[in-house]
Amino acid sequence: MPKVLIATEKPFAAAAAAKIKAELEAVNYEYTFLESYTDPADLLAAVADVDAMIVRSDKVTEAVLDAAKNLKIVARAGAGFDNVDLKAASARNVVVMNTPGQNANAVAELTIGMMIYLARAKFGGKSGTELAGKKLVLFGFGYIARLVGRMAKGIGMELYAYDPYIANEVMTKEGVKPLSKVADIFKTGDYVSLHMPANDETSRSINWDVLSLVGDDFTLVNTARKELINEDDMLKAFAEKKGFRYVSDVAPDNLDAINADYADRIYCTPRKMGAQTLEANVNAGGAAARQIIGFIEKGDKTFKVN
Ligand code: 3PG
Repeated sequence: MPKVLIATEKPFAAAAAAKIKAELEAVNYEYTFLESYTDPADLLAAVADVDAMIVRSDKVTEAVLDAAKNLKIVARAGAGFDNVDLKAASARNVVVMNTPGQNANAVAELTIGMMIYLARAKFGGKSGTELAGKKLVLFGFGYIARLVGRMAKGIGMELYAYDPYIANEVMTKEGVKPLSKVADIFKTGDYVSLHMPANDETSRSINWDVLSLVGDDFTLVNTARKELINEDDMLKAFAEKKGFRYVSDVAPDNLDAINADYADRIYCTPRKMGAQTLEANVNAGGAAARQIIGFIEKGDKTFKVN
């Protein structure tokens, strides 16, 4: 029987683990869970005899792939797959899949929640501002961005988006005005929310070239990846733009330096929380299990990313 490892350094909700078990038991697959591990060596040991893996942001490196001699498929229960060495996986004939859209609503709700939290001065008693009437630019227009757009529309924000890989009609159909230049994103938005993957093209791309363009009252929203930000340049933005604010679902490495002078203009979750809901865990975990079964039983490669 095929054997599946569920390796989650940040564990799924119990109901999601139960869902995964139910999917795998229905086809008589064996499984083991490795949860909350802190030593990468534990992952190396756990993959030794498995045919498939379900992971979240767990790092699937060349060493992990080398240790997993029987591995055929890695299912990333989530959207981003920058944690998986795709080249090394392809070289070893290992299929990598993600589960796009399955945790999108959870991330979108957190995005809006963090925007309101900082706009209302962290609910600390001081007067804040409202989102209604402000311009929100979605940088990237995938599943999460579209849901953020719908929620923001309900609040009364004015919506724009930029995504070179998505047709303008998709945006206009959602009531979102397409932008065609990166500079326009930063000149237009009172809020810019990042919704693109971290890769060679996008890493550190949020730098002074674009941050220098923002207005006096501006909030950068990052529920994507911290690698998108040039952190030195962002510190400069805090220093030079008195109304520059940042909310993020992963703290920058220079958080202490920012907090030292600008603590009231930044909020970061203590650990990546965007997809950390019962519903998102059940959806993404269940989809990952089903995709593994579909691949092993029928060779179904839908959602393959390598
Ligand atoms: C994703 O890429 O799906 C999100 O960043 C969630 O990641 P997580 O599963 O580590 O919470």
